[in-house]
Amino acid sequence: MNISIFGLGYVGAVSAGCLAKDGHRVIGVDPNQTKVNLINEGTSPIVEKDIGGIISASVREGRLTATTSVAEAVQNSEISLVCVGTPSQLNGSLDLTYVRRVCEEIGAAIAQKASFHVVVARSTMLPGTMRDVVIPTLEASSGKRAGVDFGVCNNPEFLREGTAVSDYYQPPKTVIGETDGRSGDILATLYVNMDAPLIRTDVATAEMVKYTDNVWHALKVGFANEIGNICKSLGIDGHKVMDIFCHDHKLNLSSYYLKPGFAFGGSCLPKDVRALTYKAKTLDIETPILNSILPGNQLQIQRGIKMITEHGKRRIGILGFSFKAGTDDLRESPVVDVIETLIGKGYDLKLYDKNVTLASITGSNRDYILNHIPHISRLMVSEMSEILTHAEVVVVGNGAAEFRDILSKIRPDQVVIDLVRIGSGRSEPGRYEGICW
Ligand SMILES: NC(=O)c1ccc[n+]([C@@H]2O[C@H](COP(=O)([O-])OP(=O)(O)OC[C@H]3O[C@@H](n4cnc5c(N)ncnc54)[C@H](O)[C@@H]3O)[C@@H](O)[C@H]2O)c1
Repeated sequence: MNISIFGLGYVGAVSAGCLAKDGHRVIGVDPNQTKVNLINEGTSPIVEKDIGGIISASVREGRLTATTSVAEAVQNSEISLVCVGTPSQLNGSLDLTYVRRVCEEIGAAIAQKASFHVVVARSTMLPGTMRDVVIPTLEASSGKRAGVDFGVCNNPEFLREGTAVSDYYQPPKTVIGETDGRSGDILATLYVNMDAPLIRTDVATAEMVKYTDNVWHALKVGFANEIGNICKSLGIDGHKVMDIFCHDHKLNLSSYYLKPGFAFGGSCLPKDVRALTYKAKTLDIETPILNSILPGNQLQIQRGIKMITEHGKRRIGILGFSFKAGTDDLRESPVVDVIETLIGKGYDLKLYDKNVTLASITGSNRDYILNHIPHISRLMVSEMSEILTHAEVVVVGNGAAEFRDILSKIRPDQVVIDLVRIGSGRSEPGRYEGICW
């Protein structure tokens, strides 16, 4: 394919070299004449393992050139990859100056072009930037319509400096956010030989994935450092601890616990976060990340309460209030927090949980209910149908299988608040609302 690459920094130079090495004809574009000259001389404009040899060979073999002329590059390519910088402004917001300018320039060149051209944003930009900045700017400067007269995709880059070339060939995944299938198909051909999952999705999801990834990586570093600092204070080798931690691919390094939903609870997580952060405090070790976990969890409970109460209805039914489906354990169940707040505000409540009926539970949990939350036991009913008869707002509090077809059971005047994504996740305001979807 004939490809133009805008921005010859870390991402652009690596993409240009590797795509040319793969046999494509690549034109690099940058307003910086020095970078353009360097490429044309066969020299890499960045210091990065393996890229020097790739660029010099590609230039020598005539597959890679560079220019400052946008018109020449767009005219002689079918697809443009935008790799310009998106730095932080002083207040932390994203500086889109370079993105805007490059879109104006590419749009003006597309205006002069008869054939279909695809513009692919590889720069990291916040969700909504494609919709609010990239597409409108390209449309205004080209006088053409995105998705019809030219194509637009978002294709976040996952390479790491220092291992950029090997990351380019073995990325963890390739994500294509597309406005139209035709553009996505054209872009996908660049990745046919990649040994990585190719995921095609909408543009905003692709934009968000990149931030989710990087914030997660930053969180991992901060988390490991705080654990290491506590370990050092306790005379424990933090590397040994984290090595063992990393052996666990079931709960630690896995998709488990990584689905947006309601607050965590139960007899272990809140207690153990509290104990470790208190221990750190006694050791004079600052752990702002660990300290933020419980307040964050509390805010998710408040969010659930707000969603339930903002409907202005008094009759509430709760389906599932043990801290997760399949258990009768109510200790530190966040749904119990919700229930207590609603009781305190005078709501008319009924509660149902197949696993929590006074007739069936025994031992410490029965004592807990009778001694600690007797006000809750009075509201418990033994049939789900009683909730559906009573409630104006039905809250799904855990993921028990019997709640799955709840939407087919409610009346038109009832609304379901889903804290656990029991349904498909498609929000229907006034009928079905998920806590964070
Ligand atoms: N560096 C990384 O490891 C990395 C990894 C993944 C994603 N990203 C993202 O990719 C984007 C680029 O990052 P980078 O580190 O390569 O940036 P960089 O600052 O190294 O390079 C950006 C280049 O864009 C050029 N440029 C500016 N305006 C231009 C225009 N109108 N036309 C053509 N070129 C123009 C600049 O001259 C510069 O050479 C950023 O959004 C960044 O967040 C970077």
